[in-house]
Amino acid sequence: MNGVFPPAPEIVRDESELDDWLTRPRPELVDFIRSVSSPLVILGAGGKMGPTLAVLAKRAAQLADHPLAVIAVSRFSDQAARQWLEHRGVATVSADLLAREAVQKLPDAANVIYLVGLKFGTRENPARTWAVNTLAPAHAAERYPQSRFVALSTGNVYPFVSVAGGGAREKDALTPLGEYANAAVARERIFEYFGQMHGNPMALLRLNYAVELRYGVLVDIARKVFTGEAIDVTSGYFNCIWQGDANEMILRALLLASSPPVAFNLTGPSVLSVRTIAARFSELLDRPVTFVGTESDTALLSNSECLSGIIGSAPTSLDTVLRWTANWVQNGGRFLNRPTHFEVRDGKY
Ligand SMILES: NC(=O)c1ccc[n+]([C@@H]2O[C@H](COP(=O)([O-])OP(=O)(O)OC[C@H]3O[C@@H](n4cnc5c(N)ncnc54)[C@H](OP(=O)(O)O)[C@@H]3O)[C@@H](O)[C@H]2O)c1
Repeated sequence: MNGVFPPAPEIVRDESELDDWLTRPRPELVDFIRSVSSPLVILGAGGKMGPTLAVLAKRAAQLADHPLAVIAVSRFSDQAARQWLEHRGVATVSADLLAREAVQKLPDAANVIYLVGLKFGTRENPARTWAVNTLAPAHAAERYPQSRFVALSTGNVYPFVSVAGGGAREKDALTPLGEYANAAVARERIFEYFGQMHGNPMALLRLNYAVELRYGVLVDIARKVFTGEAIDVTSGYFNCIWQGDANEMILRALLLASSPPVAFNLTGPSVLSVRTIAARFSELLDRPVTFVGTESDTALLSNSECLSGIIGSAPTSLDTVLRWTANWVQNGGRFLNRPTHFEVRDGKY
């Protein structure tokens, strides 16, 4: 493709502009997508990231003039997500990945992106969290023994680390606190186990906080500043990445899948301070901000140098996302109302 990727807009006015921007492929992705054979299956595509990820892949293939069928698989608890996908040329299949027979019937694919996970509600029903994060990966890995996998994991697989250290690295021990995080370690280990057994290439991506304008840690902070709620800085530091950038990297990570499976941290380049980000929102929103608590010297942080050293760092600048977010909050943009609970320090979600 020789088309010029436009500069980021000053503001994002509505959901149609937001979705357009989130699914607009950069030339790097358009070039890469030519190497992906059809179909591309995306499991767990009905959630916060899957729809825009699937459409990003589809648009990249269209721009590359590459005949790639993208098949989004989910239970589609949100039927609107299903229609949104179909309307944009993505095929959908409704399936519960906990049902082994249903998974066996899924279409063949040489490339699989795996997004299924369960975090919230673990405190009330830990058994469900363990089932979704272990049985579903086992069913998927068993169904696709020869396929190349990119499977999402989370930065929660690491324990809290010292803020001064710049974030956990891939070789660090996976000894986190709490049942969700340990079930997320199990999700990785199940993929690794099947990857070792079948010898198919896999990449595990430990994502820390995708953000867009309808949800995410930046929206959580901005909304508090806007409504005058005090900001607790006890969990004082975090990493995040613009969801459009994260989705691009997830797709391009197919290139990095290997046997035995390899894990990469996926997040933005910097350790961000809750206090500094809230102060910037206070400026952008023209509202005073108040803080409670004192920053702990540990936080859930990961270092993404390994992945960005191979495929480049996230192109969307932090200040751009802060401006978009402030404008969205100020102008009554729609929210998913799914708080990240980034403040949690006891591992209970
Ligand atoms: N978003 C983030 O900031 C973030 C941060 C760290 C890690 N991650 C990881 O990235 C992955 C994708 O993130 P996300 O935010 O899109 O997650 P999400 O909103 O939870 O989406 C995952 C989707 O998987 C589907 N699913 C769950 N159980 C299923 C089952 N039994 N069968 C079929 N589909 C099932 C659900 O959609 P249906 O109800 O339609 O089935 C769910 O919405 C997650 O696994 C998460 O661990 C995300």
